[in-house]
Amino acid sequence: MNKKILITGSTGTIGQSLVKLLQESNLNFVAGTRDFEKAKSVLDISKVDWVKFDFTDQSTYEQATENVDQVFLLGPPLTLNMETIILPFLDFLQSKGILRVVYLSAMGNESLKGDLAFHFIIENHLKENHFDYTILQPSFFAQNFKNFEFENLMERGITFNVAGDGKAGFVDVQDIASVAAKVLTEVGHTRRTYRLTGPQLLDFYEAAEILTEVLGKHIVYPNPSEEAFRSALKAGGAPDFIADYMISVYGMIKSGTVAHLSPDVEKILGRVPTNLKEVLKRDFAK
Ligand SMILES: NC(=O)c1ccc[n+]([C@@H]2O[C@H](COP(=O)([O-])OP(=O)(O)OC[C@H]3O[C@@H](n4cnc5c(N)ncnc54)[C@H](OP(=O)(O)O)[C@@H]3O)[C@@H](O)[C@H]2O)c1
Repeated sequence: MNKKILITGSTGTIGQSLVKLLQESNLNFVAGTRDFEKAKSVLDISKVDWVKFDFTDQSTYEQATENVDQVFLLGPPLTLNMETIILPFLDFLQSKGILRVVYLSAMGNESLKGDLAFHFIIENHLKENHFDYTILQPSFFAQNFKNFEFENLMERGITFNVAGDGKAGFVDVQDIASVAAKVLTEVGHTRRTYRLTGPQLLDFYEAAEILTEVLGKHIVYPNPSEEAFRSALKAGGAPDFIADYMISVYGMIKSGTVAHLSPDVEKILGRVPTNLKEVLKRDFAK
């Protein structure tokens, strides 16, 4: 039996692009999901081999890894202490001798503390337990504008983040997926960590100018204080931990922690990464 790749997070922003790429290349893979019906509705393409997979349900691990020799590992967002659901799965993989893991981490994760230190803990676990890992550390996704700010942009004419005057190298999720597909299918990427950024460092004032051009609608970055940000999220009904989470994560932009461009996307894909304007044009045309 041919070996295959297990894709976790297959129905998410990165996972959907990755599944399409692997399918176009006729690769042998299985796509994990907790909910087949939802999976089929978000990824309406034929021939996907779905398997039930839930990090929090260890009874799903065995079937999901049948004949698998590589795992694309992506943990759910907005999950404090995410290592508590990922490490049991890594222990299971190790017990089965499945050591090849491509882990979707995040740029700047080493600066986050306490219940937000999960990517750092998982990266160290992979390194210390002799996995054949490749760690992908993307910067902030260019798709966050469409996925998380649609209402702010369309109804209020703002991009509302606590990033101060800081800059980030917003990266296209399709570039992340293309890198993931390469490292899963080419040799020479084990025990490597790649930082994935777009081609430009931009602050949110500059992002607002690009949004204005692409949307044909005036977009402002009000650069809110943490208090104003907390109040707005509370008024919108978000659970309290979300504001703390976002303030810490966007604090990596505010503090300059992620104000770096990386050559890794271009080195791996052999082309320049897609810039924010092109991603926004593609996203908002849908
Ligand atoms: N947004 C950013 O700017 C940014 C930057 C750097 C790194 N990251 C990292 O990117 C990751 C999120 O990626 P994404 O945006 O592609 O995710 P996403 O679109 O939010 O999708 C989350 C995926 O996780 C799966 N999932 C949720 N709970 C699960 C569970 N208990 N067991 C198994 N699968 C589960 C979901 O699958 P089903 O519902 O089908 O089961 C879904 O496919 C996070 O780890 C985050 O830290 C994000």
